[in-house]
Amino acid sequence: MADRWTLDRVRELDERDPLAEVRRRFELPHGVCYLDGNSLGALASGVAQRMRAVVEDEWGVDLARSWSHGTWMDAPVRVGDRIARLIGAHDGEVLVADTTSIALAKLVGAALAARPGRRVVVSTTDNFPSDLYAATAVAARAGAVLRVVDRHELAPALGDDVALVCLTHVDFRTGALHSIPEVTRAAHEAGALMLWDLCHSAGALPVGCEEHGVDLAVGCTYKYLNGGPGAPSFLYVRRSLQDRLENPLPGWLGHEAPFGFEPEYRPATGIRRFLTSTPPVLQLAALDAALDAFEGVEIDDVRAKSSALGQLFIELVDDAGVPGLEVASPREAGARGSQVSLRHARAADVVAGAADRGVVGDLRPPDICRFGLAAPYLSFEDVFRAAATVVEVAQAL
Ligand SMILES: Cc1ncc(COP(=O)(O)O)c(C=O)c1O
Repeated sequence: MADRWTLDRVRELDERDPLAEVRRRFELPHGVCYLDGNSLGALASGVAQRMRAVVEDEWGVDLARSWSHGTWMDAPVRVGDRIARLIGAHDGEVLVADTTSIALAKLVGAALAARPGRRVVVSTTDNFPSDLYAATAVAARAGAVLRVVDRHELAPALGDDVALVCLTHVDFRTGALHSIPEVTRAAHEAGALMLWDLCHSAGALPVGCEEHGVDLAVGCTYKYLNGGPGAPSFLYVRRSLQDRLENPLPGWLGHEAPFGFEPEYRPATGIRRFLTSTPPVLQLAALDAALDAFEGVEIDDVRAKSSALGQLFIELVDDAGVPGLEVASPREAGARGSQVSLRHARAADVVAGAADRGVVGDLRPPDICRFGLAAPYLSFEDVFRAAATVVEVAQAL
């Protein structure tokens, strides 16, 4: 089935792309097809200028007064509200602080403390390892255990001893999706709370935290939200749960009166109680500016385009029929996140060869070549060129 796609046909898709204007909100190096936004998102246009203003004016001139007069103190909640819209949550349900692993550790600890009669946290073997490390350690300290099962064996693992189910929505290797509505419902039927890791979801596909009754979530902001290297994570706690959960790592910023310097901890009401420390102001400024790129953008449109980009990539690889190069992601768009992974015995050589030709993806050893499809800044032509390059490199091995 050769030549299902031609450059002209692909360019027609770009002409009809409702997100075409959004691409101009990013600065990408000329001649590079950047399919690694699921590792580090691209630089959005206003970020450098905003950071310069924060450094030179707010820090350089206003100095410590910026803590009391400026926007620094409320940034974790204010920027969290901007992310809430993208994950189907409400204002006051999302906080930007810490890193994903730390946020996850906090919420696992909070969930276990809220379910004292239940001493099991359930996760899957293919979950992101850092989540498993953090959940194992936190569970052990709470006298609980992490029960790790195959992703297809979740249902039998959900006994009445389970306090929390802790999963990553999009598999970081293959892009395979868990069903948020189905798994969240099953967790609730078992009497457990549900915590989703949305690292590869936020800014890429609809999540529907409120719609699906999600209790808790975490995610990073440096992938599809383009917050920059080391950008802080976000943490979501359903409003009705907030005052029933305790932050296991209390700190002064989560105190009801941080500047009262009281010797006893009194948790703030609402999402602020999950704060621990001083906000990372510069990183929050970069993220805040990066989120401007999502202004007026519907996440359903982002999802529709990334699904189409994925379909194009898969069809081009299939049509080329290179021996040893296989699609490792689900073929059905509804079962796949915003990436296409290919399996090849010499994956490292495929990824390196493509990068030498300006096509940036990444390697997940031993045999996965991973290509992120960030719809806000990728064109169909980018994906056409990327797939052609990957095919050419694999053919030559
Ligand atoms: C799915 C997932 N969870 C957790 C993490 C860890 O994030 P952090 O370094 O912010 O702790 C990552 C990092 O890439 C990830 O992909």
